[in-house]
Amino acid sequence: MLLTTKELFETCYGRYAVAAVNVFFMEEIHALFSAAQKAQAPFILQTTPFAREYAHPTMLLKMIEAAAEIYPNTVYAVHMDHGTETHILNALQTGGYSSVMIDASHDPFPTNVARTQLIVKKAHALGISVEAELGVLTGVEDDLVVDKTQSFYTDPDQAVEFVSATGCDSLAIAIGTSHGAYKFSGAQGLQMDILQEIQNRLPGFPLVLHGGSNVNPEVIRRINAAGGCLRTDSTGVQQHEIQAAIPLGICKVNIATDTRLLWTMVTREFFRDQPEEFAPTTPGKNLMKTYESFMIDKFQRLGSTGRS
Ligand code: 13P
Ligand code: G3H
Ligand code: NA
Ligand code: ZN
Repeated sequence: MLLTTKELFETCYGRYAVAAVNVFFMEEIHALFSAAQKAQAPFILQTTPFAREYAHPTMLLKMIEAAAEIYPNTVYAVHMDHGTETHILNALQTGGYSSVMIDASHDPFPTNVARTQLIVKKAHALGISVEAELGVLTGVEDDLVVDKTQSFYTDPDQAVEFVSATGCDSLAIAIGTSHGAYKFSGAQGLQMDILQEIQNRLPGFPLVLHGGSNVNPEVIRRINAAGGCLRTDSTGVQQHEIQAAIPLGICKVNIATDTRLLWTMVTREFFRDQPEEFAPTTPGKNLMKTYESFMIDKFQRLGSTGRS
């Protein structure tokens, strides 16, 4: 059943978080829906504008529709991740999305407010939820690259002003995470004090954690053992920190890097271990199996198992 993110967050706020996973191709969509049906966990499937360009928006949406038919006992939202006006307005027109993110967080505050207001007006007219962002994350995701010097944490006072001025349904905040496989180089982690301040000022308002991947060191080790060359001197978000953020209002945890790393691991190990093989379905099956177990475990950790 397709719900809006607003509906999902009304149920989960303060109790559990909904995994929001970026997908690019069929095997991921299959495995995500399959895991959610097995775990009876609500989820958010999200696509970046880059993913839409890669697969073609129609191909992506039809695959999602097909998955909903194949896995009928699922509760989910379809969300546009890091959208610009062009992508969002196009998505509103073609349909299929129950939620969109307008990412104007790199703009000055008044511009961010104005751009978000416009999307809220258009999306709400169609019953579609809007996520907006205040504060800037660093890192790399698809074609979005942000340098460390441009990042800043969300200001709790500004967050109140932003939410009331825009009417957005959820707010992505910057509390120390970044996109990609290299988030933290030392002992620093999430800025829980800032998160607590934001919740104090916006009680009951759904907050979103971008850059939510754990970056499992064992996965990195296996990738590198199979010919990869990924850095081992940094970490992802610790799962216990994500769990501590849930009672403080984090309702949505974005995951892209972790599932991309699974693809890298499975594919590299396939070519290393079966050099005589050339059937794409073999690593495809391995990926779906590995991805499904990862998601079932992730739902458990976010507390969303059995909630759909
Ligand atoms: P990760 O790079 O941690 O997976 O973050 C994903 C994300 O925020 C998608 O918008
Ligand atoms: O959303 C409803 C849940 O399935 C029930 O949650 O056991 O925490 O009340 P609960
Ligand atoms: Na998003
Ligand atoms: Zn993001």
